[in-house]
Amino acid sequence: MSEDAYRLTSPDGLEMELPIRKGTVGPDVIEIARLYREHKVFTYDPGFVSTGSCESDITYIDGEKGILMYRGYPVEQLAEHSSFIEVAYLLIHGDLPKVDQLAAFDNTIRRHTMLNEGMLSFFKGFRYDAHPMAMLSAVVGSMSAYYHDEMDATNPDHRDIFAHRILAKLPTIAAAAFKLNIGQPFMYPRNDLNYTENLLHMLFAVPAEPYEIDPVAADALDLLFILHADHEQNCSTSTVRMAGSSGANPYSAIAAGVAALWGPAHGGANEAVLNMLEDIGDVSQIGKYIDKAKDRNDPFRLMGFGHRVYKNFDPRATIIRGMCYKVLDRLGSQDTPLFDLALELEQIALKDDYFIEKNLYPNVDFYSGIIYRALGIPTSMFTVMFALGRSVGWTAHWREMIVDPTGRISRPRQLYTGPLARDYTQIEKR
Ligand code: ACO
Repeated sequence: MSEDAYRLTSPDGLEMELPIRKGTVGPDVIEIARLYREHKVFTYDPGFVSTGSCESDITYIDGEKGILMYRGYPVEQLAEHSSFIEVAYLLIHGDLPKVDQLAAFDNTIRRHTMLNEGMLSFFKGFRYDAHPMAMLSAVVGSMSAYYHDEMDATNPDHRDIFAHRILAKLPTIAAAAFKLNIGQPFMYPRNDLNYTENLLHMLFAVPAEPYEIDPVAADALDLLFILHADHEQNCSTSTVRMAGSSGANPYSAIAAGVAALWGPAHGGANEAVLNMLEDIGDVSQIGKYIDKAKDRNDPFRLMGFGHRVYKNFDPRATIIRGMCYKVLDRLGSQDTPLFDLALELEQIALKDDYFIEKNLYPNVDFYSGIIYRALGIPTSMFTVMFALGRSVGWTAHWREMIVDPTGRISRPRQLYTGPLARDYTQIEKR
């Protein structure tokens, strides 16, 4: 028997040897791909709590120690020194760019921001109050109608163009959804502006007067996008990989990722946090909400708390909390009471036995909404902002998945608990 193997004994005494795979860092992985073929059993792991679905060299998380690294670089260093566009290059291409590579990449993204004019007509069909995540998912999905025949996943140039289009056009789609919601004219992108400046322009400029971009607002958005850019096999990224594994058009796989991100247990949590803070309203009410979160019979959860992987501080939450001070100082004194409430809620929860025992700490979404709100971005757009950052991770993972020589269509198995075979009964005899 090999040393690097995990041994199991079946109920009838059969020895099974399962190979152990080692990553560059992190826990070992027991390979079970041949388990059914050789031993006629499946594993059962709802929610994939102990299951790795792929090999990846993009992002590493150590949830116990609160570590997050993109391509080996600690997220704290990238947050301090890099830009979202540089991080996008890193995640998509694997290494930090040289000066000319970054300039060329940045230039390409700036020059892919316009939408096919026909795509704008979709917005005429939505009701004025349609949720922007619903519009984002639908219009990103429509990109598969515009770019289907010229998308050959085996062609590296096509894979690059796909990445450029997703990165460059999602802000334009997001801003169009926002403008529809608030009844203002759509603003065309400007190539002279960088990624976040252009987004702010498309969100907040109007044709009637000049719009001045606040550098603190642009920096804050850039930081949030860096921190949201990737998070290994999270729900939306796994969805993109799974949809893409069938060979589906990658733009529609990204639309599936947007849909998965929308849920309140995932990217929708930033919207839910702000709604929760507004419901709590005052420091005196915190105790009541903590009790509700602890009550097993109450479905309420403290939004922005807890994480499947982090059982320690989410490093992103700590960085965002720091940016909150800067942004509120500059832009949003009216939002300071909400931030104070969040700080107090965090302190009370961190001292509470329930949260201590279950290792529940603030996650990335706990503070991000406070920044978005101070920038004038409404609650319904928070998850859209998350999607813009995460679109880079989705793209990087799709690209990794599609060229993986061991890749197969994603097709989990199940534990069947339905009826045994039975004969069809005619309707009048039931
Ligand atoms: N408030 C109160 N209790 C909680 C919370 C919370 N926010 N989060 C987890 N718990 C409790 C659960 O009730 C459970 O208790 P039990 O063991 O007594 O049954 C225990 O902690 C473990 O929680 P699970 O739901 O089993 O953990 P899981 O890994 O499946 O879920 C999740 C993680 C979805 C993030 C969860 O913590 C949650 O719902 N948090 C609030 C929503 C949120 O902030 N989501 C954003 C996540 S970050 C992101 O996607 C960007």
